[in-house]
Amino acid sequence: MFSKKKQVSSIDKDQLELIENAQKRIKQKKRLYIHFVIFLIGAVFLIVANTVLGIGKDFKIAGINWFVYAIFAWLFLFIYHFITVFITHKFMGKDWEKQQLEKLVNQQELRIDKLKQNFVKEETKIAQTQAYTEATDNAISDQKKKTSELTIIVAAGENNAIGKDNDLIWHLSDDLKRFKSLTNGHHIIMGRKTFESFPKPLPNRTHIVITRQRDYKVPSGVIVVNSLDDALDAARLDKQPFIIGGGEIYKQSMSFVDKLEITRVHADFENADTFFPEIDETKWQEISRTAHDADEKHKFAFSFITYVKK
Ligand SMILES: NC(=O)c1ccc[n+]([C@@H]2O[C@H](COP(=O)([O-])OP(=O)(O)OC[C@H]3O[C@@H](n4cnc5c(N)ncnc54)[C@H](OP(=O)(O)O)[C@@H]3O)[C@@H](O)[C@H]2O)c1
Repeated sequence: MFSKKKQVSSIDKDQLELIENAQKRIKQKKRLYIHFVIFLIGAVFLIVANTVLGIGKDFKIAGINWFVYAIFAWLFLFIYHFITVFITHKFMGKDWEKQQLEKLVNQQELRIDKLKQNFVKEETKIAQTQAYTEATDNAISDQKKKTSELTIIVAAGENNAIGKDNDLIWHLSDDLKRFKSLTNGHHIIMGRKTFESFPKPLPNRTHIVITRQRDYKVPSGVIVVNSLDDALDAARLDKQPFIIGGGEIYKQSMSFVDKLEITRVHADFENADTFFPEIDETKWQEISRTAHDADEKHKFAFSFITYVKK
């Protein structure tokens, strides 16, 4: 109960092996150094013993004194010792190096696997966020379509003519009055050319002008956008935004508007240069029609016709 716990070394096996090897190495070098010193002293001693003290003075092999052989033999021994320490003997051995390399490779592989897993997680998150954003956007645009009644308002001849030289072809005051009363207080969406056909912006309506020009200048209060989508977005709070022309914008919006307020002018205008798209009776249902005769103020007879999408 009171006995001391055996201390667990915090140094790992590899580190311990490294330290032991380093200690061994220091001892090996120390021994080589001592060997060298002894060799030097020994050589001097052999020379003195033979030449000064006369030990074995007459012993010669092939005319050379014995101590020369003894010194050379010792020198070979010393060289052998030197080779074993510095050339033959490797610090930790090849196997140990291979082992360490494999360990490193394994560690790197583990790290790469982890990074891959994190990457897949991140990708999934991004995909989920994108899907969520798209779903939200779709929901918002569906909502927009449901709560507002996007309406085209146009006056067109029997041959669908609507304009010439960036102007109207007729002057029908009751049609203009109807246009004013229907669009009063609403957003009116138009192409840049139609906007330029007005002498000035119409009162009590929010003008939204579509152009591809990035720096198109307009009087204050007029909204400029660079796409039809942006125009619809700018009018999203209006219960009944109107698309008021001209030919290009009618053509692009015909497929998704909810209602058509047509003034059908009962004449053909062969000299026109701008036309309204054909109304596909299989897709549109006429819900009201009011006829207006020609008179001193109105050169042509016309009818107000309202269509809703079937
Ligand atoms: N009878 C009617 O009820 C009635 C009603 C309105 C107009 N009109 C007549 O129609 C004629 C004008 O019609 P129009 O077809 O020539 O021109 P428009 O539709 O009024 O305007 C065309 C311009 O709108 C911009 N635009 C078109 N689509 C776009 C898009 N997807 N993204 C960005 N900008 C876009 C471009 O402006 P930029 O060139 O600046 O890029 C293009 O040149 C005139 O004669 C006018 O009197 C008749």
